[in-house]
Amino acid sequence: MLKLIKNGTIVTATDIYKAEILIEDGKITAIGTNLPTHGAEIIDANGCYVFPGGIDPHTHLDMPFGGTITKDDFESGTIAAAFGGTTTVIDFCLSNKGVPLSQSIQTWHNKAKDKAVIDYGFHLMIGEMNDEVLKQLDGVINEEGITSFKVFMAYKNVLQADDETLFRTLIAAKELGALVMVHGENGDVIDYLTKKALEDGNTDPIYHALTRPPEVEGEATGRAATLTGLAGSQLYVVHVSCAEAVQKITEARNKGFNVWGETCPQYLVLDQTYLEKPNFEGAKYVWSPPLREKWNQDVLWNALKTGQLQTIGSDQCSFDFKGQKELGRGDFTKIPNGGPIIEDRLSILFSEGVKKGRITLNQFVDITSTRIAKLFGLFPKKGTITIGADADLVIFDPNVQRTLSVEAHHMAVDYSAFEGMEVTGEPISVLVRGEFVVRNKKFVGTPGSGQYLKRAKYGMLRSSDQDERQTI
Ligand code: URP
Ligand code: ZN
Ligand code: ZN
Ligand code: ZN
Repeated sequence: MLKLIKNGTIVTATDIYKAEILIEDGKITAIGTNLPTHGAEIIDANGCYVFPGGIDPHTHLDMPFGGTITKDDFESGTIAAAFGGTTTVIDFCLSNKGVPLSQSIQTWHNKAKDKAVIDYGFHLMIGEMNDEVLKQLDGVINEEGITSFKVFMAYKNVLQADDETLFRTLIAAKELGALVMVHGENGDVIDYLTKKALEDGNTDPIYHALTRPPEVEGEATGRAATLTGLAGSQLYVVHVSCAEAVQKITEARNKGFNVWGETCPQYLVLDQTYLEKPNFEGAKYVWSPPLREKWNQDVLWNALKTGQLQTIGSDQCSFDFKGQKELGRGDFTKIPNGGPIIEDRLSILFSEGVKKGRITLNQFVDITSTRIAKLFGLFPKKGTITIGADADLVIFDPNVQRTLSVEAHHMAVDYSAFEGMEVTGEPISVLVRGEFVVRNKKFVGTPGSGQYLKRAKYGMLRSSDQDERQTI
């Protein structure tokens, strides 16, 4: 079935122009004006932008964490993502020491398989690097197409890896063609500070932030960047929240190291005072790293504008307030970390970024889609509007005014982190490989229709599942 999108303004990371898009068998097969229709279904995008589908490089769907499990799974999470204009997610597959990596990956395939309504890939957590693990990485990369590994420098005694593991992972990634991702916070120092806070009777949510000061993020980020330079490898720092970490990334980049940084909507628009909300409501705003003093927001926006940070992820990791966040009443260390963001990532970046003149429209597309596709081995199959690419498209009305709210969102949780926030712009229709998932703001997708994505190695292109070739 052919589809022809007419009257829209196409926006890519480099261009803005009016043209029609012909879709055939899930791919973009022509872009131009007055294209022959061949009986195609006509989709009118008048007054709208047409963006390449958003790619969320950082989600935790159906993930056990902090003694509970995230509320959004691959069904509710990807439905919400689609409403928000995201057509691909790359989710974090957890692993356990001593368990074959293939078994952990299979667990994640099972979580996603019959549920995802958009396409998805996985990053793999590396908790410990030794010869046994090393031997398995070739299969992870070449058979599973998992070409990014995540190392946690925090969450002591749970997810945290030591520096030897980080360094050995960096060396392996350089040799095998993978990108190493780090959660950059010094878990040992945080462990000491949190124990001390509890001893002193400081149990409220605000102490989550006060026991993870920006210095511990800056220190760990700088350490990871230094080790990356030493290994001659490549690093992607997830959820950068503060000036200290931006500075370390900038320093490393200025030395010519392959270091990339992601921030998240929550750090761009919320601040540390939210953790002080009464009636334990501050627990809704517990992320690691924590929300920071407000002035950091300008630093993060500026870093996106100047390219010192390159991407935005949601770090979707949602828990209900009732029954889940509440586990930490009387002990902030028991509040499950994370929040519901997957649906609001593009809207916040568009409204607060583009509409307020902090970033350009082309940068918006680059930060939410194109650059992510390039870094994670999906480009140009995903991440742009070009002939031969998957027809993952968002028809976006840039003028709609609306209010973010738990009443309006599609995530499975009982609160919105952005309750009452006014935004301009809204995805109206969203297509994945040429099929509507959201049409005129209604869900029309099918759980299980999302496809697993094998990704190309770091620095390589993936234009189709067969075709992998080297970039310049
Ligand atoms: O608070 C957060 N970020 N929760 C999700 C897990 C992680 O560290 O990314
Ligand atoms: Zn034709
Ligand atoms: Zn993290
Ligand atoms: Zn995360």
